[in-house]
Amino acid sequence: MQKIVVEGGAPLNGEVRISGAKNAVLPILCATLLADGLVTLRNVPHLHDVHTTARLLAELGARVGDGGPGVVTVDPTTVNSHVAPYELVKTMRASVLVLGPLLAKYGHAEVSLPGGCAIGSRPVDLHIKGLQSLGAQISVENGFIKARADKLRGARHVFDIVSVGATENVLMAATLAQGRSVIENAAMEPEIVDLAECLIAMGANITGAGTGRIVVEGVDRLHACEHSVVADRIEAGTFLVAAAMTGGRVTITHARPDTMDAVLDKLRDAGAELDCDGDRITLDMKGRRPKSVDITTMPHPGFPTDMQAQFMALNCVADGVGVINETIFENRFMHVNELLRLGADIRVDGHTAVVRGVPRLSGAPVMATDLRASASLILAGLVANGTTTIDRIYHLDRGYENIEQKLSGLGAKISRIG
Ligand code: EPZ
Repeated sequence: MQKIVVEGGAPLNGEVRISGAKNAVLPILCATLLADGLVTLRNVPHLHDVHTTARLLAELGARVGDGGPGVVTVDPTTVNSHVAPYELVKTMRASVLVLGPLLAKYGHAEVSLPGGCAIGSRPVDLHIKGLQSLGAQISVENGFIKARADKLRGARHVFDIVSVGATENVLMAATLAQGRSVIENAAMEPEIVDLAECLIAMGANITGAGTGRIVVEGVDRLHACEHSVVADRIEAGTFLVAAAMTGGRVTITHARPDTMDAVLDKLRDAGAELDCDGDRITLDMKGRRPKSVDITTMPHPGFPTDMQAQFMALNCVADGVGVINETIFENRFMHVNELLRLGADIRVDGHTAVVRGVPRLSGAPVMATDLRASASLILAGLVANGTTTIDRIYHLDRGYENIEQKLSGLGAKISRIG
């Protein structure tokens, strides 16, 4: 099994290009099922989850092509199955996002229940309720979500909990429903805006994406289109935290600062100097130790839960005490035990972690437990004395494109072995 080895102590300096967003390209790949022609996607990151979704689309009969570096084409006109199998869905919960498109386009979908994952039970009840609002008949049998609808009808649906995936499933289904749909208490993540922009390029009639109220006027069909995937704000935030922790000066390019307000503000609170210029963000922490920051994760535009583990790593070596409240997922502190192995001082009480900064961490073998936890362990290894070896890095490859090459390019002493 592959591992990542990090030698701590080197400040990061230089420039790094941000890739397309995993959490935008996954729903957008599912949305291609709605089109009646070829969809060409650019700025697609080279990630394991992208390959898994491509395999799922191929399993449904779509033709997925490699259009060159960062370009994926999907021809959905050859779809001949509406069943997403357990073998694929169990490896990636985002597979549930084919439910809305298949239901809207073909009136039938069977998607294996995704099951939980390390960070929580991750139910799909909100997806099911939202699609039922549009007139779908849905049952859960033998581990499968079985959905049918002669023709979805536009409706007003109010989500009682903000859910990114459920908002995406209902938004995609509503594009081909008969009449108007209004989605209230919708998630406002930038990835939903990007999905909506791709759907509009296909001919969908959507207003309000990025706000809590999305209005969709159903259309009869959606056509071929081209779309470039939005920059990954979580990858961008991860590299900026790495620069802040190591006391370096890093410029990230091809980013979208306008999608990162909460993270950029928190980095300023930690003492970083930030300069945003178009798609470039420069963070300067030259030789300074970060200050501890308090974090409470919230739906966008609040502080993103996907950046919680990375800021916990920063707090581990910051000056002061930082309090972290994780409000989105019930079990997203799996990285704490591994950070403790590196010498961190963290006290967890339920959904709250109190992190007392220590001058130095000390390298040790640790184990990745989920995608963002893996990133936080690499960040900690960058500032720990000696060698940190991170096991189970398949978690990392799900969501970060060539992370060790990108970090090496900034001066990190990092390599992959095995
Ligand atoms: C998306 O997951 C992201 N994944 C997650 O990123 C991200 O952490 C999360 O949104 C929150 O921002 C993708 O976009 C592929 P939710 P999603 O539905 O849609 C509960 C990463 O690291 N809930 O917004 O699954 C749920 O349990 C990943 O890139 C229900 O109760 O998240 C959670 O507590 C991790 N019932 C809360 O809502 C449902 O039907 C928010 O989850 C659905 C969700």
